[in-house]
Amino acid sequence: MTMATASASLAVALLFASLLAGTVFSDDIIPIMRIPLLERFHAWQAEYNRTYATPEEFQYRFKVYCENVKFIETMNRAGSSYELGENQFTDLTQEEFEDMYLMKLNEVASAPEAMGQLGTMNAGGTSGGGNTDEAPNYVDWRTKGAVTPVKDQQQCGSCWAFAAVASIEGVHKIKTGRLVSLSEQEIVDCDRGGNDHGCHGGYPSSAMAWVARNGGLTTESDYPYVGRQGQCRRDKLGHHAATIRGVWAVQRNNEAMLERAVAGQPVAVSINASRAFQFYKRGVFSGPCNTSLNHAVTVVGYGADPDGRKYWIVKNSWGQTWGENGYVRLERRVSSREGMCGIAMEPYYPVM
Ligand SMILES: *[C@@H]1O[C@H](CO)[C@@H](O)[C@H](O)[C@H]1NC(C)=O
Ligand SMILES: *[C@@H]1O[C@H](CO)[C@@H](O)[C@H](O)[C@H]1NC(C)=O
Ligand SMILES: *[C@@H]1O[C@H](CO)[C@@H](O)[C@H](O)[C@H]1NC(C)=O
Repeated sequence: MTMATASASLAVALLFASLLAGTVFSDDIIPIMRIPLLERFHAWQAEYNRTYATPEEFQYRFKVYCENVKFIETMNRAGSSYELGENQFTDLTQEEFEDMYLMKLNEVASAPEAMGQLGTMNAGGTSGGGNTDEAPNYVDWRTKGAVTPVKDQQQCGSCWAFAAVASIEGVHKIKTGRLVSLSEQEIVDCDRGGNDHGCHGGYPSSAMAWVARNGGLTTESDYPYVGRQGQCRRDKLGHHAATIRGVWAVQRNNEAMLERAVAGQPVAVSINASRAFQFYKRGVFSGPCNTSLNHAVTVVGYGADPDGRKYWIVKNSWGQTWGENGYVRLERRVSSREGMCGIAMEPYYPVM
């Protein structure tokens, strides 16, 4: 081989190498350099018991998984007050995730207030939620036994029913001394025809108003969750394991008022669940997210970490493998009035 041909073949080799490098993140093949990720994907599949019907589906899901892993690692390298990680949603794009788990209502940001039983807790007074004038520095209703284990809404946009039920479970325990797991399915199946649309989204406030109008709600075990909307089991409507009189709105866009309300009992709120939120693993979540609300959750307390970083303790309904055993801590007392991810925009709680 002459020098000329040697350097020519080196050039070809380099060209080939750079072409190969260029394909590492391309769409349609599994390049050799992704094999460690492929092993990781198989391990992930085993952990979350995920199988795919066709090789095409597998290829597509692997690609989405790689993009999400890249996103998670890029965010974690950037360093912040929280960490992202793999979870049961790592083979879903943001759009798929929004379709399957979040609310499709555009107008979630303006929950209906003309429902008669809604009152507003004003700056001056308290509401019957048992609030104290001075909110304590630290509240955690879990330690008071007022919070049931984290539930899983499955592939159904029923977060609004879970947020309503967690807040009703809370006030029921506080007023009666008994913690009873209550039925989201009764609400998903039977609260129809108004603002609420089963797996296609709804409002915690109108769900609570429906429970008040119905005269109560039955238990989880009497009317178990199945993850899809079905016929209302009317024979269950008279089983009242817990009753509420109505719904109160916390003054909007005021985190101090939200603290006072949460000091009284767990409060249902709406937030923006962003792509980073989808993969939240631990720490105090501080965005990115905005104030377009697409998810409902329940605030069950608040506090501050040893660095003095203030947070809300939020119960989610994506099972116990998401976040901090199913919970997320969202930054509290931020500069915008709406709160982190809009948490102070739509807070409501039930009154017994
Ligand atoms: C795994 O998934 C299969 C098919 O979806 C299901 O039949 C099986 O019960 C699941 N196993 C576990 C342990 O979740
Ligand atoms: C939530 O916020 C993120 C980040 O700003 C954004 O990309 C996403 O579209 C928002 N969700 C909605 C429903 O607007
Ligand atoms: C939130 O982000 C989404 C996507 O970028 C955008 O469509 C929406 O208008 C944003 N909402 C607000 C209130 O900025």
